[in-house]
Amino acid sequence: MNMKRILVSGGVGQIGTELSVELRKKYGADNVFITDIREDVPAIIKEGGHYNKLNVMNYDEVSNFVKKNEINTIYHLAAILSGKGEENPFLCWDVNMNGSMNVFKVAIENKVKQIFLPSSMAAWGLGIPSENVPQESIMRPTSMYGVTKVAGERLGEYFFYKYGLDTRGLRYPGIISSEALPGGGTTDYAVEIFYEAIKNKHYTSYINKGTPLPMMYMPDCIKATIDLMEADIKTLRYHGDYNVAAFSFAPEDIAAEIKKVIPEFTIDYKPDFRQQIAESWPTSIDDTAARQDWNWKPNFDITAMTVDMIDKLSKKLM
Ligand code: SER
Repeated sequence: MNMKRILVSGGVGQIGTELSVELRKKYGADNVFITDIREDVPAIIKEGGHYNKLNVMNYDEVSNFVKKNEINTIYHLAAILSGKGEENPFLCWDVNMNGSMNVFKVAIENKVKQIFLPSSMAAWGLGIPSENVPQESIMRPTSMYGVTKVAGERLGEYFFYKYGLDTRGLRYPGIISSEALPGGGTTDYAVEIFYEAIKNKHYTSYINKGTPLPMMYMPDCIKATIDLMEADIKTLRYHGDYNVAAFSFAPEDIAAEIKKVIPEFTIDYKPDFRQQIAESWPTSIDDTAARQDWNWKPNFDITAMTVDMIDKLSKKLM
């Protein structure tokens, strides 16, 4: 591929913020066009290179932007997550599907070479074995967010075979990060718990004890994303739906890790509607295909992640 000209949608979100900074470092700030609909843009995004407001729901806006900036690669991250999605399922479908369709259509019309469209562990659902869920299994999501993720995976596959559009994607576990807060997901608790541990030495978890979920630290999430996009297409057996995993924990497990660093920390539980979503998701993920096809391997386990998170957040919240 010639020089990359990259569009990031949802570039101010939890993953978008840190991924965009890394893309600028790797491909040059001039070649990375970070976009979002949000007004509250952090300095690292606003000051380090291009930032534009872009609404993926508006086909003309996306089309003009891609043409004007000669975009050949898109990281399409703009989406409504699982918790918010259950509060307004119709809006979730609208943003996640119509937004993605606009991006696919513009990409095909403008001969964009590569698209990254993330999937999620929410794509599975009830009635499948929840431990070590395999690369190939029945997908029966019970959340609207999960429904849109399975549809996104299938669309990516469809456009790959129909038009040769090189669509890639990962089934992300819950992502833990120190830079930008997640917004409206079920796994947000795993980030909030660190803020509360540092500020108040206590956290009330809306996910109940005894509910393990797959999780990953942001540096590994970014590595997985860029490595998959850089992988030689000849080695890839799958497109928009690679399983990736790092570790799994329940709220009491992460609380125990935090306690090793902050001994006064305590946790209690007040499950809300997100408990039901969490219970429909797998407890662990088999990522053998990613390991074999593009050498995926996480660097952080739960202990290393906890130490690093507390260190980074303590400095940030000082
Ligand atoms: N972190 C996401 C959520 O909780 C899962 O993809 O919605």
